[in-house]
Amino acid sequence: MEFRLPPVPRDLPIGVFDSGVGGLTVLRALQAALPAESFLYLGDTARLPYGTKSPASVVRYATQCAGLLVSRGIKALVVACNTAASAALPDLAARYPGLPVVGVVEPGASAAVAASPSGRIAVIATEGTIRAGAYVAAITRLRPEACVTGIGGSVFVALAEEGWTDGPIVEQVAHRYLDGVFAGGDAPDTLLLGCTHFPVLAGALRHAIPAAVTLVDSALTTAQAVARQLATQGLARPAAAGALGETRFLATDGPERFARVGSIFLGRPLTVRDVELVDV
Ligand code: DGL
Repeated sequence: MEFRLPPVPRDLPIGVFDSGVGGLTVLRALQAALPAESFLYLGDTARLPYGTKSPASVVRYATQCAGLLVSRGIKALVVACNTAASAALPDLAARYPGLPVVGVVEPGASAAVAASPSGRIAVIATEGTIRAGAYVAAITRLRPEACVTGIGGSVFVALAEEGWTDGPIVEQVAHRYLDGVFAGGDAPDTLLLGCTHFPVLAGALRHAIPAAVTLVDSALTTAQAVARQLATQGLARPAAAGALGETRFLATDGPERFARVGSIFLGRPLTVRDVELVDV
C-alpha cells in the first residue's frame, strides 16, 4: 500500500482572488517575482463588479472567496482586489490567524508615496475603494502631509472586463475622469491605479495626463510584500533546480469569457480548459 505524507505547507499554492480578471495583473507580478511558487487564482465573475456594491456585500463575497481558497489548501492569501481589500482585509486576517493575508492597498500606497516628490497623489479606483477611504488612510500613514485626491472610476472596470483597453472610447472616458484633476498649478504628480483592472488601461490613461505625471500600480509592491511575508514565515518554496510552480484558475461564472479576457490581463494565452467553474 502506498503511503503519502501530507503536503508540507511550503508546497501549497498561494491563493489569489479578485472580483474578475483584474487580479491577474497582480498574479502576473507574483509569478515573475516568485517563479517557484504555485498559485490558485479565483475570479468571482458571477458577482462582478464589486466596486459599486455595498461594503456589507463585498465583505460577504470576500469571505466566501477566501473560504473557498482556504478549503482547497493554500499557504497564503492575496486579496488582489482593492475594493475587497478596503472592505474586508482586517476581517479576513482575523478569520485565518496564522495564514499570511496580503492586500493591495498598503503596497499600492507605498508605491505611490515612493514615486511622488510633492506628496500630491491622485488615486483612481472603484467607488467602493474611494468611499472606504482606504488609500487616504494608507498614504497619510506613510506620509502625513500628503494630499490625496480620490477619483471613482467604475466605468473603467466595465471597459477592462470588455477587453476594451485602448482606443478613442477609453481615452474619452479617461479625459472625463482626469481632466479636472490634472488642470492647474498644484496638480498631483502621481496617479495611482487603485484598482487591479486598471493597469491594462495604462496606455489610454497616459493620453489623458501630463507627461510628467508618474503612473503607478500595486502589482510589483504587492509581489514584494508577499515575498517578504513568505521569507519571514519560512513558507517560501525553494527554487530547486529552476523548477517552476503551477497556476490553476477558478471562476464563479463564464470560464470561456474568463479565459478570453483574462489572456489580456495575464499577458499569455489562457484556454477554457485552464479554468474550472466553481460555486462559492
Ligand atoms: N479589481 C477590483 C479592484 O481592484 C474591482 C473591480 C470591481 O469593481 O469588481 O478594486
